[in-house]
Amino acid sequence: MMQDCLKKGALTSEDEIVIKGTAGTLYAAGTDTTLTSIMVFILAMVQPPDIFQKAQEEVIQVVGETRLPEFNDRTSLPYLENIITEVYRWYPAVPIGVPHLASDDDVYRGYYIPKGSMTIQHMGNVP
Ligand code: HEM
Repeated sequence: MMQDCLKKGALTSEDEIVIKGTAGTLYAAGTDTTLTSIMVFILAMVQPPDIFQKAQEEVIQVVGETRLPEFNDRTSLPYLENIITEVYRWYPAVPIGVPHLASDDDVYRGYYIPKGSMTIQHMGNVP
């Protein structure tokens, strides 16, 4: 598709580099992290079977057995949500609390964050 677009002049060679870089980044960022998290989830679920049973019961109660879960169901599945958070805590695929540097002065929920401050994101369920 990109070669067709390049031939038609719809993309510049710079666009081509950006598209390839973006696709590569998504692939690299998404594969090992997802695979590791799914494996840790399975490892957790085969250990104490009552935890898996509780999660399964919640899914059946909320989603039923005739369709797959959707993102909209997520807030109605607190037990499963907490299992997923525990997966990230137990064996994180990558360090989760990555520090960031504020590139400008900012205000967040009434807190003044001066330019140059280090902030660390909270990954839990903050209301
Ligand atoms: C369980 C799976 C995953 C975990 C644990 C994970 C973890 C992380 C973490 C900790 C960061 C750094 C966030 C920060 O700057 O504070 C990050 C960034 C990023 N992740 Fe993931 N990730 C996962 C899945 C994915 C998937 C599936 C994709 C793409 C399809 C993806 C794409 C990215 C990208 C592009 C960034 C950089 C975002 C930016 O520009 O700041 N990740 N991820």
